[in-house]
Order: sequence, then structure tokens, then C-alpha cells
Amino acid sequence: MGGLRSYVSKLLICMAVLAVKQALPDRSFTIDYDSNTFLKDGQPFRYVSGSFHYSRVPAFYWQDRLDKMKMAGLNAVQTYVIWNFHELKPGEFNFDGDHDILSFLKKANDTGLAVILRPGPYICGEWDLGGLPAWLLNIPGIVLRSSNDLYMAHVTEWMNFFLPKLRPYLYVNGGPIIMVQVENEYGSYQTCDHQYQRQLYHLFRANLGPDVVLFTTDGPGDHLLQCGTLQDMYATIDFGAGSNSTGMFQEMRKFEPKGPLVNSEYYTGWLDHWEHPHQTVKTAAVCTSLDQMLALGANVNMYMFEGGTNFGFWNGANYPTFNPQPTSYDYDAPLTEAGDPTPKYMAIRNVIGKYLPLPAGPIPPPTKKYAYGVVDMEFTATIYDVLDQLCPYGPILTDYPITMEAMQQYQGFMLYRTKLPQNYATPANLTIEGIRDRGYVIIDQVWVGTLNRVNATSMNITGSEGMTLDIFVENQGHINYGSGLYDPKGIISNVTLDGAILQKWSIYSLDLDNILPKLQSLHRQRNRKMGNFIQERAPHWRDGGYVPSFYLGSFPNLSAIDPPQDTFLKSSGWTKGQAFINDFNLGRYWPRAGPQVTLFVPANLLRPSPVQNTVLFLELERPPCFNQTETCTVEFIDRPIINSTVAARPDETFRDRKYIPEGHDFTDLRH
Ligand SMILES: *[C@@H]1O[C@H](CO)[C@@H](O)[C@H](O)[C@H]1NC(C)=O
Ligand SMILES: *[C@@H]1O[C@H](CO)[C@@H](O)[C@H](O)[C@H]1NC(C)=O
Ligand SMILES: *[C@@H]1O[C@H](CO)[C@@H](O)[C@H](O)[C@H]1NC(C)=O
Ligand SMILES: *[C@@H]1O[C@H](CO)[C@@H](O)[C@H](O)[C@H]1NC(C)=O
Ligand SMILES: *[C@@H]1O[C@H](CO)[C@@H](O)[C@H](O)[C@H]1NC(C)=O
Ligand SMILES: *[C@@H]1O[C@H](CO)[C@@H](O)[C@H](O)[C@H]1NC(C)=O
Ligand SMILES: *[C@@H]1O[C@H](CO)[C@@H](O)[C@H](O)[C@H]1NC(C)=O
Ligand SMILES: *[C@@H]1O[C@H](CO)[C@@H](O)[C@H](O)[C@H]1NC(C)=O
Ligand SMILES: *[C@@H]1O[C@H](CO)[C@@H](O)[C@H](O)[C@H]1NC(C)=O
Repeated sequence: MGGLRSYVSKLLICMAVLAVKQALPDRSFTIDYDSNTFLKDGQPFRYVSGSFHYSRVPAFYWQDRLDKMKMAGLNAVQTYVIWNFHELKPGEFNFDGDHDILSFLKKANDTGLAVILRPGPYICGEWDLGGLPAWLLNIPGIVLRSSNDLYMAHVTEWMNFFLPKLRPYLYVNGGPIIMVQVENEYGSYQTCDHQYQRQLYHLFRANLGPDVVLFTTDGPGDHLLQCGTLQDMYATIDFGAGSNSTGMFQEMRKFEPKGPLVNSEYYTGWLDHWEHPHQTVKTAAVCTSLDQMLALGANVNMYMFEGGTNFGFWNGANYPTFNPQPTSYDYDAPLTEAGDPTPKYMAIRNVIGKYLPLPAGPIPPPTKKYAYGVVDMEFTATIYDVLDQLCPYGPILTDYPITMEAMQQYQGFMLYRTKLPQNYATPANLTIEGIRDRGYVIIDQVWVGTLNRVNATSMNITGSEGMTLDIFVENQGHINYGSGLYDPKGIISNVTLDGAILQKWSIYSLDLDNILPKLQSLHRQRNRKMGNFIQERAPHWRDGGYVPSFYLGSFPNLSAIDPPQDTFLKSSGWTKGQAFINDFNLGRYWPRAGPQVTLFVPANLLRPSPVQNTVLFLELERPPCFNQTETCTVEFIDRPIINSTVAARPDETFRDRKYIPEGHDFTDLRH
């Protein structure tokens, strides 16, 4: 930061501190070290909280989920603040609708739930790049999650912009926020940079004032806590069901000899990955450890209480073997992805009832579901038919491929195009070491093979000089955890053909926002001469040369259902792609991989009759109507299928995903 700018920002921070100092006299939230408890307004206070990330549930349903949390006996809700959800592009902020975190905080407050806020800047959370904006990856020399100046300049700018918005919502100022977490499981990251934590501490204090409890969360291990904690921030831990709570809290006590016991992430379930079996944790195990912790007087946040959905392209991925998470973030939590109470919910409520008064009144019922039934899907366009609409400003011309982020695109798909420099009559070795993450290799608009970063970075191709070689690349989600955070997408290496570097690329950034109107007008034109159109395409398909294409359907088909109800979009028969409902990017489907087969469609996305709703698929690999013996349909059903069987990849385990104590057999806890 330049001298003047730095002076001005210091001045602003001083003014900010003055502005936040006027706490309401009768409201306080503090730590009583001697009595090992939190104090709220001077009285001992223990929270039983649940994680619920506003970015994973439409704003339409926030109140419903908060009410159900309240009725479970919880007195607090914990959420991350997701930086990249608010600043997807540098300086372009989104705080509207589903992004309106202040409205979320107000709803929590009105529901009578305290808020434990975790503004990162890094959050992990199985979220794209752990919540960090992918544009940070464009900055040469940046060191994420460290005191590196380049990184801290952007963190500072964001926090100085965002944190002041929270002031009216702090407990001392009449709002619900009792505690604010700094960073997330920082001890699990390799940088172990205490200066970074100190800088964050000052940034948070300067913007939030002296009266809010700042804390950290780490796995219960010496090394993790050494790197993750810092003086003046209360050190808390996280661990799951089946752990010996007494033993775990002894780890915390090494770093906080006095003060309240806190488990900031008590796992009610577990996360999923594509191509791996659906994860669950037994209700009995969850209840036993919860009971133990509450009996010890501990404060507990259940992660997740309501998991929700990774809509659009927001899922993250794990590492070292690249493993993206699916669209559903159900998490086997007490409330399902669709917000419905489960037997786990009832059992947890019973445990909480032993320690805290349960609110009177009925538990809100599950939301209504409707099976809208089978919907015909019509082929509408290949990506080539709409390339001009998807990339209105045309391609960028470069000698060598550049990354998706360098193209200032941070999610989705990108097309890399060049020409074959000579004839390749015998198979030539096409190698893309840096394919991120999955690339469809298409020659003169005929698919010839699929590459992926895990186990297929080369293939043989043939062709003649001048033919168009396209690599259609999918970003499957930025790595959100561990040492793999530097995960730029697209093509991040050179592309070689029999060892020679291919040059002169045209790179098309593909924009899927507002895709529906573009396709619908095309669809109407096409419909008039659909017969010819299909004829034109059919030969390619018969040769196996399918290229990524759009399919459109509309519903309801029979009697209209008013008001619209939640439903589940079943993708069976399709292979892999992106689904949209009324132009809303619902998420990825990949039933061939599993375990997720249906996508949750919340009612707020649907329009009341007589308006037709549209469902759009961008199918990347092979639609059910690939050959003419089958039809292309989807089905809307009234229950989720997120646990279909998968042929598990044998190549890795997830033991490194979170701190799991030695000898702890996680598999024992699964259903
Ligand atoms: C939070 O709720 C309390 C009443 O419980 C109200 O007095 C206060 O104004 C609310 N604060 C905000 C920020 O909505
Ligand atoms: C739990 O841990 C404590 C402290 O390490 C130990 O004394 C106790 O025996 C353990 N309990 C079980 C059931 O393993
Ligand atoms: C309605 O659904 C039926 C099958 O349930 C299908 O045969 C028919 O073509 C559909 N009609 C429209 C307009 O989509
Ligand atoms: C690629 O082509 C080379 C040369 O023809 C051949 O030796 C090799 O087996 C082929 N590899 C694959 C995977 O087909
Ligand atoms: C290679 O990785 C892809 C992508 O994860 C996976 O679908 C496929 O099953 C893997 N193939 C083998 C042979 O392991
Ligand atoms: C391409 O060449 C690389 C490097 O020699 C080799 O590892 C790879 O197996 C080859 N791919 C094919 C499809 O033959
Ligand atoms: C691609 O090759 C060119 C020419 O050899 C080289 O300058 C460039 O650094 C290479 N790019 C990558 C990402 O390796
Ligand atoms: C059409 O697809 C079905 C199912 O994948 C397959 O059984 C059948 O052989 C295919 N027919 C042709 C002509 O490819
Ligand atoms: C998936 O979950 C449902 C509902 O809990 C259950 O009935 C079904 O047996 C499960 N399927 C698999 C393959 O585990």
C-alpha cells in the first residue's frame, strides 16, 4: 500500500473505532475465565448452535430453516461469510437477494437466535476456493492465507468494506452477533504465519471494536493449535461424533487452561464427493457425543445443522487426488438439503431438551413436495450453434494457452481452439499436463476423447493439417482445502502434439448467465425447420461425435400446481452436465458418477400457473437420446436420491481431509 493510502486507511480505522465504541450499556457478551463460561449480560450463558450457510439456501427459505433450528432447542446459528459469493469479480459486489447477508442476520435476530459469525477471509466449507475469490490467483507472487502484502492488501480492502456493515448487528449494539471467528482451521494450513493472524486480529478489532469475542477454531492436536491460535483470540476446537469428548477438550485446555469449552464444528454428518459413496453418520453416535459434551458444560456448534445446496458452480474440491464435491450439501444433517426435519433432528432435540428449555409449539412441518412428472427435453443447440451468444466479444488470441482466471472468468466452461499444424495420419500424442479439470477434445466439431487431470492428460489423435482442434474445458470447482489452493483452471500448461508445442490459440470465455432467452429465440427459429436441423446433426452423433449441447423442456405438463412446490430433478439416463431452472443455474448433474442423482429445486425458482417453467440441460457427454431408439426426458420427483451406489475410486482416502484422531475408526459411525 502506498504511503498516503495507508495513512488514510489508518485514519479511517481510528474513526471506525471511535464510532463503534458506544456499546449499549446493558448488553454485553464476554468470557468469564474463572467460571469457565461465557457471560451474556453478565449471566452465565452456554450456546447450542447449528451451522447454516446462507449461500446454500435461497433467501426465500431462510426464515423456515431458522424457525426449525429454533424449535430444535438451539439458541444460536453459525455461518461463514463467503467472500467470493459477494465479490465474484474484483470490485463488483453482490448483497442482493440470496446474497443479502444482512437480511439473514436480521432474520436470525428476529427469530431469537444468537449469531456466531465466521467471516474468513478463508472458510474452507467445501466451497469453491474456500471462499477466496479466484481472481486472487491472477496476482503473481501472492501467498494465500499469509501476511504476504499482495494478499493482505485485498483482504484489508474487503474487510474494511464489509466488516463495518456488521456493526449494527453486533450484540453490544443491539444485534445478534456474539462471537466472530478469525480465519478457519488455520493450524491445518502449511503457512503457520502468526503475523498474518495478528494482522487479521487488528483488522477485525479495528472494524468491530473491542467488545466482540474473537476466536479461532482448529482440530484438537498440538501442532494444529500451535499454528492456529494466537493470544487475544479464544482458542476453540472441532471434532466429530464417536470422539472421546473429555480427551478432546483436554487438548483445548492445553491452549485455554480456563474459560468455556467449545466445539465449533461438531460433525452431524459428513461431506460427499462425486464418484464416492454417500457419507452418513449414525444418529445414535451423534447423540451420544453431544450428550457427553453438554454434560461437560461445553458449548457446541453442530456442523451442519442445515447443509443445503452448492447451487451453480459453487462446490469446491479436495486434494491431493482431485475430488470435487457434488451439488448437494445435504451432509446427512438433522435438517435435510430441502430443510425437512429428520429422525436425527428429533433425537438431537431430545438431547438438547435435557440441558436447555425447548420452545413451546409445534415443529414446523416438512415443506410440500410435488412430483411434476416426466418432461420432454428437446435438443436445442450445440455449443457451436451458440458460440457467438456465449462469447459475444469473440475469442482472445494468444500464442500459448492462458488460464481461465487470466481470462477473467472464474467458473464454468471455456473453449480453447487451435488448428492442426500438419497431417497426422498415424496416431499422434496429444498431451495437456495442465488440464483443469476436464477437457473434451473435439476435432472439426466431432468429439474424439475426454481428458481429465486425475488420470488422463494425454490421448492419441489423428487428423489433417488445418483441422480445428477444440478443447472444451470444465472447471469442476476450485480446491478448497490443504496445500492445493493454488488451482487455476482451464489449461495451465502448454499443449503438445507428438512433443511439439501447439501455438496460436483462440480462447473463448463462455458466459452462461442469461442463457435462456438466447436459446429460446434460437429454439423458435429451429423449430420451424427442426426436421432438417436434426438431420444435419444426426450423422455426427452416429459417428460417436457428440458435442456438448443444450436441451430444453417446459413444465408443468398436466394440471398446474399452485402455489409451486419444492421438487427434485432426476437426471438418470443423462451423463454429465449443468442444469438450469428458469435461467437459474441449479448445479452440476453427473448421475454416471453418483452418488447424487436428483437436484433439489426449491419452490421459489418455479412460477405459478399458467406460466410455463423451463428446464435446461447443458449435456456434456451423452444424452439419453444419443441414438434414435431413446427419448430425452427428465423427471421431477418428490424425494431426493443422493445415495445411489458408485464404483468407488480405489486411489485414496479422505483421512487427511480434517484432523481425525489416531486410531479413530470413522467408518464405525456410518449407517
Ligand atoms: C434484534 O432484536 C431485538 C429484539 O430482540 C431488537 O431490539 C433489535 O433492534 C434487533 N436488532 C437488529 C439489528 O435487528
Ligand atoms: C476419555 O479420555 C479420558 C482422558 O484422556 C480418559 O481418562 C478416559 O478413559 C477416556 N474414555 C474412554 C471411554 O476412552
Ligand atoms: C407430457 O408428458 C407425457 C408423459 O408423461 C409426454 O408423453 C408428453 O409428450 C408431454 N407433453 C409435453 C407437452 O411435454
Ligand atoms: C498411441 O499411439 C502410439 C503410436 O501409434 C501407440 O504405440 C500407443 O499404443 C497409442 N496409445 C494409446 C493409448 O492408444
Ligand atoms: C479417472 O478419473 C476420472 C475422473 O475422476 C474417473 O471418472 C475415472 O473413473 C478414472 N479412471 C480410472 C481408470 O481410474
Ligand atoms: C503421450 O506421451 C507421454 C509422454 O511420453 C506418455 O506418458 C503418454 O502415455 C502418451 N500418451 C499416449 C496416449 O500414448
Ligand atoms: C509454453 O511454451 C513457450 C515456448 O516454449 C514457453 O515460453 C512458455 O513458458 C510455455 N508455457 C508454459 C505454461 O509452460
Ligand atoms: C442405443 O442406446 C442403447 C442404450 O444405451 C443401447 O442399448 C443401444 O444398443 C443403442 N443403439 C444403437 C443403434 O446404438
Ligand atoms: C438411499 O436412501 C434411501 C432413503 O434413506 C434408502 O431407502 C435407500 O435404500 C438408500 N439407497 C442406497 C443405495 O443406499
